[in-house]
Amino acid sequence: MIGVFDSGHGGLTVQRRLAETFPALSFLYLGDHANAPYGPRTGPEVLELTRAGVDLLFDRGCRLVILACNTAAAVALRKLQQEWLPERAPGRRILGVLVPTVEAITGAPWRVETPPVGRVQDTRTVAIFATQRTVLSNSFPVEIAKRAPALRVVQQPCPELAGAIEAGAPEAALRTLVASYVDELLHRLGGRMPDSVVLGCTHYPLVAGLFADRLPGVQVLSQPDLVAESLAGYLERRPEYAGRDGGEGGGVRRFLTTGDPARVSALAQRFFGRPMAFEPVRAAAA
Ligand code: DGL
Repeated sequence: MIGVFDSGHGGLTVQRRLAETFPALSFLYLGDHANAPYGPRTGPEVLELTRAGVDLLFDRGCRLVILACNTAAAVALRKLQQEWLPERAPGRRILGVLVPTVEAITGAPWRVETPPVGRVQDTRTVAIFATQRTVLSNSFPVEIAKRAPALRVVQQPCPELAGAIEAGAPEAALRTLVASYVDELLHRLGGRMPDSVVLGCTHYPLVAGLFADRLPGVQVLSQPDLVAESLAGYLERRPEYAGRDGGEGGGVRRFLTTGDPARVSALAQRFFGRPMAFEPVRAAAA
């Protein structure tokens, strides 16, 4: 069983692609809806909530957990991998959406921490739309600069967007919010379009069309696709984490939420057009 964690609905964009790519594998999704959005929270809060979420997924039998949340990955991935996992569950693994995204932008694998020849002169402009906490963590610019130092990274915080998506805001309101963030970015770029754009919050693919409408002709990197490709490579190298040895049958998909299962299931259906029955679990205190 592979665990997929997010503050709320965003990780479902990743979960959906993983379920399509790996029909024989079992996935357990956890949305911490009771504590969403994570974007306006402090770093220590995000770290503690993420740790609690991963802990719960480990307790439910997951040997591998994917942080399908950029905010959680930007703040907590390295800390949990290096400081918590070795003691809590040395045989288990935590991966995060940040890693394949940085690899795709820079063309360099994560293990490479100095720019590969040929990448040094990459002077494209990449815009990253993300939550406030992800932007403040500086994880994207720092990790990109290690591998592609000449690349210009412009971060655009979208402080209210994930919360509005979680609250089920009507499309017109979401469109207005997206337009305001895109316009702010373009203003900072002196009206020039960026070469490519990362929707660096897993909630934003739920409104990808609204971004595309405002950024015509700009390449938008798809995190769900990148995560699925990266997981395929990972499981080829580490088949023991495919999770088929836990006794559960293949192809299981279960959805847990710390929020109100009826509300969460209804909103998931609005975005994905099919029923998803969420089961309740207890929320960690923020
Ligand atoms: N989906 C999350 C992310 O990728 C978190 C959004 C939030 O809870 O603010 O950043």
